[in-house]
Amino acid sequence: MNITVRKAKRTDVPAINEILNYAILNTNYNMNENARSLEDAYKWFDDHEREDYPVLVAVYDGRTIGWVSLSHFRQYSGYNCTAEVSVYVSESYRHRGVGTMLLTELERISGRFHTLVAVITDNNTASLSLHSRCGFIPVCTFRELAYKNGTYISVTFMSKRPYSSIQRK
Ligand SMILES: CC(C)(COP(=O)(O)OP(=O)(O)OC[C@H]1O[C@@H](n2cnc3c(N)ncnc32)[C@H](O)[C@@H]1OP(=O)(O)O)[C@@H](O)C(=O)NCCC(=O)NCCS
Repeated sequence: MNITVRKAKRTDVPAINEILNYAILNTNYNMNENARSLEDAYKWFDDHEREDYPVLVAVYDGRTIGWVSLSHFRQYSGYNCTAEVSVYVSESYRHRGVGTMLLTELERISGRFHTLVAVITDNNTASLSLHSRCGFIPVCTFRELAYKNGTYISVTFMSKRPYSSIQRK
């Protein structure tokens, strides 16, 4: 498969949102309970552009099949050295290395951040494996931190110092 990873454009937003909403509506991996509107998705993208938080997409045969982003970890300014990773791959393209490609490229360009954090529900074996494979280390698990679809869900925080950030120090 000839997959390319590139910076997302505004025209990728509908595909990005569709991939996200599939996970919201069909899994307990994303803790939103309602699909995100396209209007909110454009706002999310524009905020990322304005604040220089990266959004990358994986493209195969002209289709956007996955995406990865960094977002504010928390709104307090002291946390601006840290960013939270999100990574989503369209269901029919999973387990073929797309998530690894996206996360690897994201890390390559994210040297301005001192620490990356992934917040992963404990039932999400694929995401825990992906982040471990990319060098993220489990920091702690909060028991029954979230509630969705009638179940309390435990959540593991994983973290990593980006390679370029370590080189700079
Ligand atoms: C998590 C996700 C992004 C992984 O993407 P992917 O393209 O399938 O990942 P890769 O093919 O690069 O595989 C990366 C690792 O995950 C493992 N993996 C992928 N799918 C898996 C699955 N269904 N079960 C167990 N492990 C899985 C792979 O084996 C690989 O690890 P390994 O090579 O060390 O064995 C994808 O499953 C997804 O989009 N899930 C739904 C959304 C989501 O949960 N996002 C993360 C929120 S924190």
